[in-house]
Amino acid sequence: MSGGSLAPDAVGPLLTGRLGHPYVYREQCETTQGLLNRSEPEGAVAVADEQTAGRGRLGRVWQAPPGSSILCSTLLRPPPERRIAELALVGGLATAETVEEALDLAAQIKWPNDVMVNRRKVAGVLAEAFDGVVVLGIGINVNQERTALPDADVPAASLRTIDGVVRDRAPLLAALLARLEVRYGDWLEGGLDGIYDGLGSRDFLRGRRITADGAAGIAIGITRTGALEVELDGERRTVEAGEIAYER
Ligand code: BTN
Repeated sequence: MSGGSLAPDAVGPLLTGRLGHPYVYREQCETTQGLLNRSEPEGAVAVADEQTAGRGRLGRVWQAPPGSSILCSTLLRPPPERRIAELALVGGLATAETVEEALDLAAQIKWPNDVMVNRRKVAGVLAEAFDGVVVLGIGINVNQERTALPDADVPAASLRTIDGVVRDRAPLLAALLARLEVRYGDWLEGGLDGIYDGLGSRDFLRGRRITADGAAGIAIGITRTGALEVELDGERRTVEAGEIAYER
């Protein structure tokens, strides 16, 4: 596998915006979520080729063979009154747009944090808050072969298993950070309304048969407050967090 280098000399010249300064790179670390501390400025980015304790949502692990993926975390300082959970959707939208541009295929966002192509998960987003800052982690499966993908409830794919192309990861990472800067700016200015066009049109669960809290129903869609509206046992409800199982 040759996905190129993500070392500072490969990525630095491609970073034209506000994100990625400073750019912290490790060949290996436990998790990029732990590489940034609160003294870093907004826009600091941590990237690794390998995580030994990569974290997913809800206490899950995030695994990827060394050098196969994009594993990055960005430090953000949103105003204190803003809802952190919305940032997973901001990150999801920026990731979906980046993946779409790379593949020339549509990508969807499976509420609250998965990016899907052809009904398979190609990326995940994790927003964690501590000490008044948010670390927004994004993992994109780029060059894994099928056998190296995790066996999970939501079937996984990499960009490579979708179109057969082995990609240089540096331009993809630079494109992701540029998209994230734009979408974060939209959200700072206009909240979720500011990104809703991109979000609503990529809503993977909308109209699907789902189960949540043991009840069966249909997903109506992502709301303008970032929750998921569902109809369960004939009753409309709003789910604020958690996991939604869907019928394949
Ligand atoms: C999920 O789908 O559950 C979220 C996955 C988030 C994975 C990324 S990889 C970079 C950053 N570091 C981590 O340990 N997790 C996030």
